[in-house]
Amino acid sequence: MEEVIREESVRLPRLGEKAPEFEAVTTQGKLKLSDFKGSWLILFSHPADFTPVCTTEFIGFAEIYDELQKRNVHLMGLSIDSVYSHISWVRNIEEKFGIKIPFPVIADLNKEVAKLYGMIMPGESKTETSRCVFLIDPEGILRAMIYYPLTTGRNMDEILRIIDALQTTDKHHVATPANWRPGDKVIVPPPATQEAAEERLKQGFECKDWYFCKKKMEG
Ligand code: BEZ
Repeated sequence: MEEVIREESVRLPRLGEKAPEFEAVTTQGKLKLSDFKGSWLILFSHPADFTPVCTTEFIGFAEIYDELQKRNVHLMGLSIDSVYSHISWVRNIEEKFGIKIPFPVIADLNKEVAKLYGMIMPGESKTETSRCVFLIDPEGILRAMIYYPLTTGRNMDEILRIIDALQTTDKHHVATPANWRPGDKVIVPPPATQEAAEERLKQGFECKDWYFCKKKMEG
């Protein structure tokens, strides 16, 4: 008889939808997603405490913490480890690397939050969360998701870059081109009608054609 492989059905969160609400035990006490309403939140998972790649990532997140705060962005980690393990690991990072971990870390022992966000990739590991990053805006909408494999540490510059790009998009109603960095020209969203296309070419933007216009950001 054909073998039936049953996988727990998980509905992955999707961009543009409300991020799933949760309440969780963290290294800074019980926290809910809704506690962060009005601020951006980066919710990220790591495979396990006391592992080397994750340690470099925690140091990386601590190093961009001040830059995130300037942008009204909170940070919260998660793994399927106990709060005692988290406490012991962050104390070890401080002792061995001289870096204090300023953000809370969820102890998701029953995998409740991990399942809600689809952080477990059974093909990679059935017992650990993958390296997921969820960017949630001040209205609680999921704006970006990044997934890295177990063996690849995340790029903190890219995470900051996406925050900068999303905040620029929201504030100025523009889009950002490949490899955009703050200060670079931005993309004027393409016109939706023939008339708007004609107008677009008269508006003083730097256009290659009616659909491809850039402009400098003021301020
Ligand atoms: C690490 O963080 O070093 C690691 C964790 C899980 C698998 C491979 C590496």
